[in-house]
Amino acid sequence: MGFATNALNMPALIGKGCCVLSDELNHSSLVLGARLTGAKIKVFRHNDIADVEAKLRDAIVYGQDRTRRPFKKILIVVEGVYSMEGSVTRLPELIALKKKYKAYLYLDEAHSIGAMGPHGRGVVDYFGCDPRDVDVLMGTFTKSFGGAGGYIAGSQHLVALLRQRSHSGLYGASLPAPVAAQVVTAFQMLMGRAGPPGEGARRLKQLEVNTQYFRASLHRLGVIVYGHRTSPVVPVMIFMPGKIAAFGRETLKRGLGTVVVGYPATPIIESRARFCLSAAHSLDIIDRSVQIIDEVTSLLLMKYSRRPPPAWTAGITREWAEAQLKLVDQQRRPHGAANGGPVPRRPVECRGDPPDKVADENDAAVKDNLAAVAAAS
Ligand SMILES: Cc1ncc(COP(=O)(O)O)c(C=O)c1O
Repeated sequence: MGFATNALNMPALIGKGCCVLSDELNHSSLVLGARLTGAKIKVFRHNDIADVEAKLRDAIVYGQDRTRRPFKKILIVVEGVYSMEGSVTRLPELIALKKKYKAYLYLDEAHSIGAMGPHGRGVVDYFGCDPRDVDVLMGTFTKSFGGAGGYIAGSQHLVALLRQRSHSGLYGASLPAPVAAQVVTAFQMLMGRAGPPGEGARRLKQLEVNTQYFRASLHRLGVIVYGHRTSPVVPVMIFMPGKIAAFGRETLKRGLGTVVVGYPATPIIESRARFCLSAAHSLDIIDRSVQIIDEVTSLLLMKYSRRPPPAWTAGITREWAEAQLKLVDQQRRPHGAANGGPVPRRPVECRGDPPDKVADENDAAVKDNLAAVAAAS
């Protein structure tokens, strides 16, 4: 689970005498991980950069409780796409802050890896940031990858440290081979090295088109939708707890299974239905779903919005969506040498090796791979 990846790795990174700055809407695995570290936890308002800065300054100026010693490390913990809000983190501003105050950044890409950005590499790719500016890149294999487990990516030093200290790595079983194969294949497809030519790019485009088309259609119905227009997590607000079960039941009766969410996963009067879009959804499926949502939200008096649909929805029609998908089909490139060719195998590292040796071997492996790719092309 990605849950265990967060909960069990964070304590290997920081501990007593450190400070965690956590977004108020962080997933419960991040909350549990932060608590298990024993570090001081300060919570900032959701996506509020001014509040992050204020809390950072406080942490630096006042230091630890009682002793007032400076914190050993300050770790800012955020999600790429928030799982219940559909909002996207303000990554470039967070990177600037963490550099300014010499803090560290932990980014949970559970809902963004394989879904956001022109290459599907998450919000880092979406904003065009340098992944090296994010100290800890975490993600799950349970969502876009259709597998199980999670990962942490970062500098060689970080990875070596986690290999030595992480409870999940040391005391838990590794990923089963079939799951690992599934995940690697999904990565290769995203990189244009597996599956039918251009399939990774096509799926990314389909997801992006589906997301915007679905969101625009919902706005036109008059329901309240949270989140960013490109976020594939789409919460539709139910608000009243009494309507949660009715919404789930009525949509299911009409052939649409929905995920309804209430307290304690959301504030008590902010119940919602959470839709997660997939590249496997066709435009017909989306149209049919919107039609069902239209019927049910009318029945349950859920069309709360008093505002006109946002301006961006104007051009997002079925014709627009079809034209976008046609374009990406025309742009499919044959894969093979020009796209990188088959991925060369990297030598497997030994877990017990000291970090330096691992680093040397990895450098050599990377050079070998680059040479092989160059030779193939
Ligand atoms: C932001 C975030 N992190 C971690 C997780 C846990 O992932 P998993 O379902 O793989 O345990 C989730 C699950 O929804 C999530 O939304």
